[in-house]
Amino acid sequence: MLYSGPAFSVTALGDGIAELNFDLAGDSVNKLNQAALRDFDAATRAIANDASVKGVIVTSGKAVFIVGADVTEFGGMFAAGEEAIAKNVLEVNRMLSRFEDLPFPTVAAINGVCLGGGMELALACDYRVMSMAASVGFPEVKLGIFPGFGGTVRMPRLVGVDNAVEWIATGADKKPDAALKDGAVDAVVAPEQLRDAALALVRQAIAGRLDWKGRRAEKLAPIKLNQLEQMMAFSSSMAVVGAQAGPNYPAPMLALKNMQEAATKGRDEALQIEAKYFAKAAVTPQAAALVGLFLADQVVKKTAGSWGKKSAKEIKQAAVLGAGIMGGGIAYQSAVKGTPIIMKDIRSEALDLGMNEAGKLLSKQVEKGRIKPDAMSATLARIRPTLNYGDFKDVDIIIEAVVENPKVKKAVFAEVEGMIKEDTIIASNTSTISISYLADGLKRPQNFVGMHFFNPVHMMPLVEVIRGKQSSDEAVAATVKLASKMGKTPVVVNDCPGFFVNRVLFPYFAGFHMLLRDGADFQAVDKAMERFGWPMGPAYLMDVVGMDTAVHAADVMAEGFPDRMKPDWKNTTQVLVAAQRFGQKNGKGYYTYAPDKKGKPKKSPDPETYELIKGVVGARKEFAPEEIVARCMVPMVNEVARCLEEKIVASPYEADMSLIYGIGFPPFRGGACRYLDQMGVASFVALSDKYASLGKLYDAPKLLRDMAAANKKFFG
Ligand SMILES: NC(=O)c1ccc[n+]([C@@H]2O[C@H](COP(=O)([O-])OP(=O)(O)OC[C@H]3O[C@@H](n4cnc5c(N)ncnc54)[C@H](O)[C@@H]3O)[C@@H](O)[C@H]2O)c1
Repeated sequence: MLYSGPAFSVTALGDGIAELNFDLAGDSVNKLNQAALRDFDAATRAIANDASVKGVIVTSGKAVFIVGADVTEFGGMFAAGEEAIAKNVLEVNRMLSRFEDLPFPTVAAINGVCLGGGMELALACDYRVMSMAASVGFPEVKLGIFPGFGGTVRMPRLVGVDNAVEWIATGADKKPDAALKDGAVDAVVAPEQLRDAALALVRQAIAGRLDWKGRRAEKLAPIKLNQLEQMMAFSSSMAVVGAQAGPNYPAPMLALKNMQEAATKGRDEALQIEAKYFAKAAVTPQAAALVGLFLADQVVKKTAGSWGKKSAKEIKQAAVLGAGIMGGGIAYQSAVKGTPIIMKDIRSEALDLGMNEAGKLLSKQVEKGRIKPDAMSATLARIRPTLNYGDFKDVDIIIEAVVENPKVKKAVFAEVEGMIKEDTIIASNTSTISISYLADGLKRPQNFVGMHFFNPVHMMPLVEVIRGKQSSDEAVAATVKLASKMGKTPVVVNDCPGFFVNRVLFPYFAGFHMLLRDGADFQAVDKAMERFGWPMGPAYLMDVVGMDTAVHAADVMAEGFPDRMKPDWKNTTQVLVAAQRFGQKNGKGYYTYAPDKKGKPKKSPDPETYELIKGVVGARKEFAPEEIVARCMVPMVNEVARCLEEKIVASPYEADMSLIYGIGFPPFRGGACRYLDQMGVASFVALSDKYASLGKLYDAPKLLRDMAAANKKFFG
């Protein structure tokens, strides 16, 4: 062995070929943390110092090739400021260039996931062979940064500006065929042929049958386009990327500006430019928020994993009660992810509708080539529609998704409890009603939990698993395990009306209603909140949720939290519902809806809305966008803090992820707690106090006042 370190080893394979193998000790994946990078450099030097080496293949000892840089190191690194960040990445680049400059050919054998820094290491090789089972790409923009280990320098020189921009600005994972087509890899082979293919390639290069020197020279030179061509390529890319990313996500545009500035330069100068722009991206609040989000996601998944381990129960057969919007979606999702499910309703039309919806969703997957037609029929066969309880004795979990009415739900529970096994779990998909309250009267309340999916079920990643006062750990754990198996991110929360997500969403709606009461135009509110980063403003969101549903849920919340959620005035949504405007579902809400060319509902403003609400809104008044944002966000964020105080949600990580995955909180803000940290808790408390006259929703709770006084943050 020529070299052996904690991450890399070098072995002589004979005929002058050395294998540089990455197998990070003590970890299940290969990632380029600072220690691994230093080890890589030591291995490179060992190779350079061995006169017998004529060529190198780079391999991985794990199932992945390299997942990328170590994101847990980013926080500390990015906090050091632009200059230190640039210095740090330049140091890594010197290591990669030293490897690239080895006086013989190098080949990467990409066996599995190869992302970000991993792809950049592969680009420092002369050739790349990829297994059919692998995927490659640059996901950095999802973290608010862009490739900083030479990726923006080597990639356009290798695959052209247009391809490089597409790879880097979208952050998409690339399958082998796409990578080969774009020229990012040189060959794609079956997994078992990968090693031989890499060896064959390096042998050919050593024998001089491949012009590896010419290949390498292209990566070291300026981009091969004349000035006019470059201008054309970059200016058209900038227009597209700028429009796609929008003003809240600066990283893709910074990547592009960097590539343009570096286009006329050779490698080393170009790397200096990349380091400068990379540091600019790394210090943005968006990068801090998105990196935080990535880590929060890991914490949440780990927590779910440890919950899941607490249950030995295997859910082999599920059932859902109600084949409506939610029941149909739950049946589809369960079937797609392999758990057979009985779908029971009291109306056969509802069952037909539920099956049709599932069929439509599956057909779309077939059309997009994501699943094969036979997989579609197998999936549909996993949903068994029924009007009776015949087979319920073999069911391991029942997910209840009947109408949001406590009396109906309780009647259904009483009926079903007699038909099931002793340990069958009953999980309610209620969106607001307290789980402990619903459990009252059950024979086995320990088997009862909440399992709150979001609409549309197949799209929304979050499931709140609600632990009622009497729910057993076993029932919670088995439900968490099922939610994970269904491809969702479960978060365990304690019980209260609205649980976590709806409990904090309704104060936001209250802020919206108060603004309208005080004379704001709902379209101006939507615009300000969409600029802030929400996928849709509150009026539009009301329309999508269904305004009758929202009014009903608001009543439940009012009963639960009368001190702050029970206004003594009529709001615009109540007035519109009374006028039979229920939102998108009947084509009329705050806006009106008509199908566009693709059949999707397209919204338009409607003068009649203004007529209808004029009795409950004040004289029209202009509000500055910052004031609109503050009046909507302060009630939500204060309620998040109350939920943390009351331990409804266990940690700021889970709070933030629930908001991002459940209701589309702007990801670049990282969630409510991250938003508070970035604004400064003391500034937020001062902002709340400014609006104190609007009522208790604007009264910052003790947790925040204490944090402000102690100058504390939620994270780091
Ligand atoms: N729609 C949403 O956005 C959303 C989101 C999260 C949670 N939820 C909750 O999910 C539940 C269902 O909501 P939905 O929007 O799917 O309602 P829905 O009205 O679309 O569907 C309810 C279905 O339940 C059926 N049903 C009524 N009584 C039944 C019984 N005794 N046995 C079997 N089926 C019965 C009805 O026939 C209907 O098909 C509610 O508790 C709701 O609060 C809804």
